[in-house]
Amino acid sequence: MNLDNRELPFYRVDRWIEHIMIQLKEGVYWVGAVDWDIRNFHGYITHRGTTYNSYLLVSDKIALVDTVKAPFYDTMLRHIKEIVDPAKIDYIISNHAEPDHSGSLARFHKEEAPQAEIIATAHGEKIIKKYYGEIPITTTREMSDVKLGGKTLKFVPVPMAHWPDSMVSYIPEDKLLLSNDAFGQHIASAGRFNDQVDQDELGQEALTYYANILMPLGRSVGRALKALEGVDIDMIAPSHGVIWRKDIGDIMAKYVSWVAGETKEKVVIAYDSMWQSTQNMAYAIAEGIGSEGVDCKVFNLTARHRSDVMAAIQEANAVLVGSPTLNNNIFPPVASFLAYMRGLKPMNKFGAGFGSYGWAGGAKKLVEEQMHLAGIEIMECDIDTAFKPTDDEWQAAYDFGVKVAKKIKE
Ligand code: FEO
Repeated sequence: MNLDNRELPFYRVDRWIEHIMIQLKEGVYWVGAVDWDIRNFHGYITHRGTTYNSYLLVSDKIALVDTVKAPFYDTMLRHIKEIVDPAKIDYIISNHAEPDHSGSLARFHKEEAPQAEIIATAHGEKIIKKYYGEIPITTTREMSDVKLGGKTLKFVPVPMAHWPDSMVSYIPEDKLLLSNDAFGQHIASAGRFNDQVDQDELGQEALTYYANILMPLGRSVGRALKALEGVDIDMIAPSHGVIWRKDIGDIMAKYVSWVAGETKEKVVIAYDSMWQSTQNMAYAIAEGIGSEGVDCKVFNLTARHRSDVMAAIQEANAVLVGSPTLNNNIFPPVASFLAYMRGLKPMNKFGAGFGSYGWAGGAKKLVEEQMHLAGIEIMECDIDTAFKPTDDEWQAAYDFGVKVAKKIKE
């Protein structure tokens, strides 16, 4: 079905068309793709898949905002063709050049819409050309908004939320923010809107997304939120996951809290173990923390993915990392987690390393060095046991847990 809305106004779109199309606002359509199967998004485990959201704005002029990851090109094209002939698209907006959003841009422009003017930030122009070769691009320095007739697309650069090129597009007539990576979640779902999915899953995935994508960029995200202060928004359409059309104040408030690094009375223990000694220490510390009524989550780093651990760390006060010593070094699953956490730079945490060794030791000190480099304030801790913990050493680990909990409650 090929429908050009410039010939058939919105109010005449028949019921069948309304049924198959996802319309956010009058003349604003979702034309993206759902990726039900992805489980690794550049090192982040995506338990529930994701979506690549493209949006088509149809007014006197027509604009496509963002495209989809390259393997989903045909899906995007089919959705676009259900609404308009791509040869009639006037603009292609690239809010962000990472390939999950730009992967279909060059091909779509070349094969279907060579007449369309591509608009990106100056950084976006460089990145798109590096990825896809020479393509004519108008930068937002030259064009800070686009008038479609009845709709205006205003471009707001939000550098480093997620890459230097990142921007958001705002449509004042619709109070609609096309926020690209910000406010995203990695969820594949049949429903496209936030009131159509399980609320607990949505809350968890929004948090996990922030922790693993935006945590180290909190200042930039904070500047982006500042830039949007006073802007009248009643719908936020990110480029991953569901569109926020209900209770958008709640997700805005969560972002304000995450950007500020607000924490709860909660401890995360991340550990791995060779012969259960470090595991016994981890469990003893957790018991001590629990005895003081403070919440504690324990993650074995072979059994659990680092990105799930980081989601728990986002709102925790304290982080404790345990490692056995292997060849005078940190046990590799723990070393991998520490490298990941160091890149994400969690805010407002204190913590300590603990562990076990046979004869030479060394892992605990190295763990604490990495935690310090991740920005975690290190508290004194001497939980480091040779071979198997004695009853006294088990008790010392329990007592250390009590001390951590009391420090949280100070
Ligand atoms: Fe969803 Fe930074 O790309």
